[in-house]
Amino acid sequence: MCMMCIFCLCACVSLISQSQQKCIAIFALLCCFAVLVALIFSSVNVWGDDEDGITEENCSRNCRIVLVENIPDDLLLPMNGRLHLPLSVGFHTLLDQAKHSVEVVSPVWDLNSWDMETWPNMAKQGQLLFQRLLSLKSRGVKLKIASSLTNSAELRTLADRDAEVRFVNMTVLTRGGLHSSFWIVDRKHIYIGSGDMDWRSLSKRKELGVMVFNCSCLALDLHRVFSFYWQLQDRDYIPSIWSKRVTALYGKDNALELQLNDTQAAAYVSTSPELFCPKDRTRDVDAIHHVIQSAKTFIFISVTDYLPLANISILKNNILI
Ligand SMILES: *[C@@H]1O[C@H](CO)[C@@H](O)[C@H](O)[C@H]1NC(C)=O
Ligand SMILES: *[C@@H]1O[C@H](CO)[C@@H](O)[C@H](O)[C@H]1NC(C)=O
Ligand SMILES: *[C@@H]1O[C@H](CO)[C@@H](O)[C@H](O)[C@H]1NC(C)=O
Ligand SMILES: *[C@@H]1O[C@H](CO)[C@@H](O)[C@H](O)[C@H]1NC(C)=O
Ligand SMILES: *[C@@H]1O[C@H](CO)[C@@H](O)[C@H](O)[C@H]1NC(C)=O
Repeated sequence: MCMMCIFCLCACVSLISQSQQKCIAIFALLCCFAVLVALIFSSVNVWGDDEDGITEENCSRNCRIVLVENIPDDLLLPMNGRLHLPLSVGFHTLLDQAKHSVEVVSPVWDLNSWDMETWPNMAKQGQLLFQRLLSLKSRGVKLKIASSLTNSAELRTLADRDAEVRFVNMTVLTRGGLHSSFWIVDRKHIYIGSGDMDWRSLSKRKELGVMVFNCSCLALDLHRVFSFYWQLQDRDYIPSIWSKRVTALYGKDNALELQLNDTQAAAYVSTSPELFCPKDRTRDVDAIHHVIQSAKTFIFISVTDYLPLANISILKNNILI
């Protein structure tokens, strides 16, 4: 844009004797245009948010997928010998891998149970995880959190220890809540699942999720969802024009082709509500239809709530395989 103005200025100087007025008018017009473009792009201030030099062209598609699960402590299920990785172990594995950044979205921040006396064992996992998040800084790992919680003591504690916490005012944006729960580690490894930053998710509740390791292609796309939330800090409206840094890389019609544990697979990230779907981002409801329509023999479904009509304004992660 600046280049354009300078170019125009040069043109003006050379033409100054001929049609000075016309030239000044064109210059003014171009400057207005430049300011307008600058304003549009500044409405989504994502410049300077580097993607660590990894792009869609050279990101990694050779990924490892691990199912993570929390079975309530006091529930005994017949497992047929097939145990998935416990959610808390999965979170610690992700933190072990972290070298630069950990980005977290969670609807709840309640890892430190107030009821430690009643359930000392159950509360332990949450406290351990919280301590590890607090200690990321000492390893030089940045912690970034997007949240719609206004008054969370845990977020304040993390922010005091140099975590970057951004508030998304979901009340004014959608009259709903931010129900997503996912992690991105070093733009390489991800977690998406029902379990969130709540001690109950690590002990008392049945939760299911996936962790995908060494998968910068998928992490790049999930990071764009994170960037979308990140840019909504203190905003009371959703901009209608978005920077390329938050638009989707993959969707139901152009899914990412990747290897999951050496098996050929296709994947994309969908979000909801529609207001939160910038260009090319598949809506959750369309993704669900797409999975159902593509099924040939079976569909396995794990959902947190089955309330398809009631809770439409809520952002939620469920998993379809
Ligand atoms: C990926 O490509 C970008 C630009 O094309 C380049 O700057 C970056 O160094 C590359 N990264 C790797 C890990 O090859
Ligand atoms: C994929 O491989 C990892 C080990 O490399 C294993 O732990 C995991 O269970 C595998 N995932 C599935 C879905 O089989
Ligand atoms: C969120 O937005 C609403 C409506 O503008 C406002 O009343 C409320 O104070 C905001 N919340 C916070 C924590 O800023
Ligand atoms: C990811 O890749 C690195 C290097 O290629 C390897 O050392 C590491 O074990 C991989 N992680 C997983 C979980 O497969
Ligand atoms: C929406 O879901 C929440 C729990 O996730 C529940 O408390 C609430 O009652 C539900 N709303 C409606 C209208 O059913």
